[in-house]
Amino acid sequence: MQMTSNSEGTNGGEMVVTPWEVKGKVDYERLIREFGTQPLTDELLAKLEKYTDKLHLQIERRIFFSHRDLDTVLNLYEQGTKFVLYTGRGPSGPVHIGHLVPWIFTRHLQEKFQTRLYFQMTDDEKFLIDDETTLAETQKWSYENALDLIAVGFKPEDTYIIYDSQDIDLLYDVTLEVAKRITFSTARSTFGFQDSTNIGWVFWPAIQAAPCFIHKKLTGENVPALIPAAIDQDPYWRVTRDIAQKLGYYKPAQIHCRFLPGLGAGGKMSASMPETSIFTMDAPDVVKKKIWNAYTGGRGTAAEQRKLGADPTVCSIFQYYFFLFEEGSTKLSDRERRCRAGEMLCGECKLDIVSKLNKFLETHRERRERAKNIIEQYHVKR
Ligand code: TYM
Repeated sequence: MQMTSNSEGTNGGEMVVTPWEVKGKVDYERLIREFGTQPLTDELLAKLEKYTDKLHLQIERRIFFSHRDLDTVLNLYEQGTKFVLYTGRGPSGPVHIGHLVPWIFTRHLQEKFQTRLYFQMTDDEKFLIDDETTLAETQKWSYENALDLIAVGFKPEDTYIIYDSQDIDLLYDVTLEVAKRITFSTARSTFGFQDSTNIGWVFWPAIQAAPCFIHKKLTGENVPALIPAAIDQDPYWRVTRDIAQKLGYYKPAQIHCRFLPGLGAGGKMSASMPETSIFTMDAPDVVKKKIWNAYTGGRGTAAEQRKLGADPTVCSIFQYYFFLFEEGSTKLSDRERRCRAGEMLCGECKLDIVSKLNKFLETHRERRERAKNIIEQYHVKR
């Protein structure tokens, strides 16, 4: 099933970006044009900076690079209308470090704007779209993935996790209002549904839309939702935005991030390719082995690399420094320079990332373990 954005990439072939599949070299400029989103402008970032003291690293580096209506949300905020955050996870398996990218930024927004987060755990979605998966499995992963979410540091009093199959009564009336206003023709052209698609999947987009509007039902306040997520989820928001005002709500706003790549060439880190993904539960030796096999921008031999240098722009390891593991801009540019100049070889760079990754994961797992005692505090409060 493909709602594709197509282009011939030089690295990994044709670009495909859908909520269910991302492959090829992702051309983000092209996605902005084809999806009809807006780039983040300096003026908008100056406004964001007013409320966040300092721009978050993910904004500074344009890891978050595009939006819809972020300007409207900030203007409303300036005039005294708050907003809520909404994001989610399809619990089909363990969490990888790519999933943490939008969650880390969402936590930053929760803290800076002191605002509520609705988090949808879509065990129903993953059950419907995967022929092999049982509901019991996706429910089990909901619990496991919630521990990872909590480990990122969200505030319990302001975090409302909705476990779809358990909490559907909360979403159901809003879902019906949404579903009634989206035609099959719109859904088919947006998501690429086919005759063989099961009807649960066809109905599913209405369920992912519902949390955009749930705040009014729970509190009586009509405020916009701002959704931080990678750009693969954007098709959902396109159909939701079309019907929001008909139902008396604000259009949900988005801020989109890039994909943390996998350890291979091209595409995103994806749980369906475990050998090129780093999961939060990967043991130190597993991390080391995966990094050792990673695709880099290195040359055939060490001698050649010392002489000619390497290319960090195609290197998956460099991207991990860029996204998560080298916060200092000077350190990052120094690493890039040494790589290009052939002063630092891939082995050294890989050793560094293994050590940084394992340290990060160890702390994450300690927090994840503690989350077991407090997970109930994060369940949607009615
Ligand atoms: P899922 O489980 O595919 O992804 C969870 C979140 O992680 C983002 N993401 C990534 N971000 C950076 N690099 C990557 N390699 C990467 N892979 C995934 C996704 O964009 C997403 O933000 N249908 C959704 C669940 C959902 C949801 C939402 C997501 C329900 N409501 C609202 C975002 C916002 C899903 O299956 O996500």
